[in-house]
Amino acid sequence: MNATGTALVDIIAGARPNFMKIAPIIRAIEKRQADAAAPSGLRYRLVHTGQHYDARMSGDFFTQLGIPEPDVNLEVGSGTQAEQTAAIMTRYERLLLDAPSNLCLVVGDVTSTMACAIAAQKLKVPVAHVEAGIRSGDWTMPEEINRLVTDSITNWFFTTSEVANENLRRAGAREEQIFFVGNTMIDTLLANLERLRPPAFWGEAKLQAGGYFVMTLHRPANVDDAAGFARLIEAVGRAVRGMPVVFPVHPRTAKTLANLPDRPPSLLTVEPQPYLEFNYLVRHAKGVITDSGGVTEETTVLGVPCVTLRDTTERPETVTVGTNELIGTDPAALQPALDQLFAGQWKKGGIPPLWDGRTGERIAQALDRLLVG
Ligand code: UD1
Repeated sequence: MNATGTALVDIIAGARPNFMKIAPIIRAIEKRQADAAAPSGLRYRLVHTGQHYDARMSGDFFTQLGIPEPDVNLEVGSGTQAEQTAAIMTRYERLLLDAPSNLCLVVGDVTSTMACAIAAQKLKVPVAHVEAGIRSGDWTMPEEINRLVTDSITNWFFTTSEVANENLRRAGAREEQIFFVGNTMIDTLLANLERLRPPAFWGEAKLQAGGYFVMTLHRPANVDDAAGFARLIEAVGRAVRGMPVVFPVHPRTAKTLANLPDRPPSLLTVEPQPYLEFNYLVRHAKGVITDSGGVTEETTVLGVPCVTLRDTTERPETVTVGTNELIGTDPAALQPALDQLFAGQWKKGGIPPLWDGRTGERIAQALDRLLVG
């Protein structure tokens, strides 16, 4: 806490999946500040690293989710993992030296998460990590490295599941450092459920609820190798029995897709979708095919069948409690999975504990107690 009775929290966001995670935290902090009876001294500075910079990957989410303009944009742009990490660390360190803050709050597992945590901790600025403790065990994924490094230098862990708590305890975290608060991504989903809306192409493509699939693919393991990607797309085309597959294409995937010799007629490739349109599509889909982690949380809460093209998940509750199934990265596994779905035999699923829409409030309350007292 400062002499003024306030504390400044840097809220870090850099890439698309961060934006839905920070929105409810910002809203909850603002609500506490505006409390007429006992206004909170918690202040925030929104730092966008610029890892994602296209309107479709970044700006649209700010607009739709009512996130204020960032106070600072580090504008790092694209690069290799190390180039991005170095650029974010250098620029965020400079910001902290020029204008210090009391806490660095990072979310998720992207490069910006790890880079800012390192820069802050080295300047003795404590770190809080939202979505801490989840582990895939797969070190070939850059996100897993980001999670391990971030959590190894985090002071306060905000977690989404008991499995995450257990992982942290095993790694030596003390009980008073762990705050089991739930899932901020689900706060955003529940807060926007009534605002979800069909994309402009819905009518033209003659999409009907329950009559199409949604697919997202962006993991290097699935999309960087042209031959493997071609096999995967072909398998999708065969398994969906002629139903349209709405495929919002991530910039990384677009590069491989551009060189694909032919595409199955059912594939409807579209630009990355804004939040409200994407989740409308998911909510009304027959099923979702993905290699994302966040999408499997959303399908779990929406009760939509989800097939994940990965061997591991850092979010096991989407499988044990939710509607998600991991089928691995061999495209041959798609057909039997979708056959089961078409036969009406997909599991129903439930909702994991504390994925209730109030996680942002719990985080803001904890920050208030820890920083302002
Ligand atoms: C990042 C995250 C991943 C997350 C994904 C969601 C890391 C390690 N990975 O991966 O966890 O699921 O975001 O989208 O942080 N590009 C654009 N416009 C943009 C941003 C990127 O064209 O606004 C291009 C880049 O030039 C690059 C590619 O997209 O070629 C990948 O971007 P990058 O930030 O390196 O990682 P993602 O694959 O998006």
